[in-house]
Amino acid sequence: MKLVFKTPAKINLGLFILGKRPDGYHDLETLFQMVSLYDTVELESRENKIELVCDDPKVPTDESNLMIRAARRLQEAVPGKKGLGCRMVLKKKIPMGAGLGGGSGNAAGVLIGLNRLWDLNLQSDELLEIGAQLGSDIPFFLCAPSALGEGRGERLTPLQPPKKFHVILVFPRVSMSTAEAYQALNFSLTKNAKNINILREFFSQSNIASLGAHLHNDLEPVVIKRLPVIASIKQKLDSLNADGVLLSGSGSAVFGIFESSQKAEKAYARCCEEDWDTFLTETVSSFSEFMPEDLLNYP
Ligand code: C5P
Repeated sequence: MKLVFKTPAKINLGLFILGKRPDGYHDLETLFQMVSLYDTVELESRENKIELVCDDPKVPTDESNLMIRAARRLQEAVPGKKGLGCRMVLKKKIPMGAGLGGGSGNAAGVLIGLNRLWDLNLQSDELLEIGAQLGSDIPFFLCAPSALGEGRGERLTPLQPPKKFHVILVFPRVSMSTAEAYQALNFSLTKNAKNINILREFFSQSNIASLGAHLHNDLEPVVIKRLPVIASIKQKLDSLNADGVLLSGSGSAVFGIFESSQKAEKAYARCCEEDWDTFLTETVSSFSEFMPEDLLNYP
């Protein structure tokens, strides 16, 4: 049997960092939204061996890759099952080092796919637990197209997806690691009266203009300081009538949201003239937009 499915990118419409934890991570509140830029994953059973190939030579295909680590964790979760193995093929479209969660989405896809392919019957809370151990953003990709994330980002409350809107993603082809972005954070700069609740309110009302006006990311100033091109991208999207513009996660991709498809298409064409990687996407409202229905019915 061979399973083929897509895994989406995400943006953070809000990212509020509440404080540093004893374990080195940061407590945060974030509003996650899946968007329609996809990698493709193929999974096929193999005896014992776990193997990954990818069409992008920049993607490591060794044991450091989250897809391999996810497969290993599943093997460990069912020590009684012998001979589990797989060949995984990854076709990459989501840029790496962009804050778009591409690698996390791939790993979540492996957890869902191998649970089926290997007939493991792990429950969704077990997959969420394994996902959280592998990376803070992975549980979101197992959970819902729109969700509030708390704790490290792994404690999730699914949200009703809003009316679809358009999202332009712009990747400047330079990056800063997530760990570096968090380390550079200066808490005296992040204290502000804004919080996630107002964003949630506009999100639930599908009020895109007000949502756009209240986008917020506490990591943005420190990442812009290191990568000034982000400020230029923000300016460009702003001048092209985006309803809101923000750095996604720890960057370095910037996104602009648009209610109007005409404005989005026009802005997309203009951004494509620049030396950046630009994608025109829309918000995802259901897993069935990217995964076969039968894969979604895991217990
Ligand atoms: O969980 P993940 O491996 O994606 O996190 C990468 C790095 O980002 C962590 O090692 C940590 O430095 C930082 N991080 C953090 N607080 C979070 C999430 C990530 O400090 N909530």
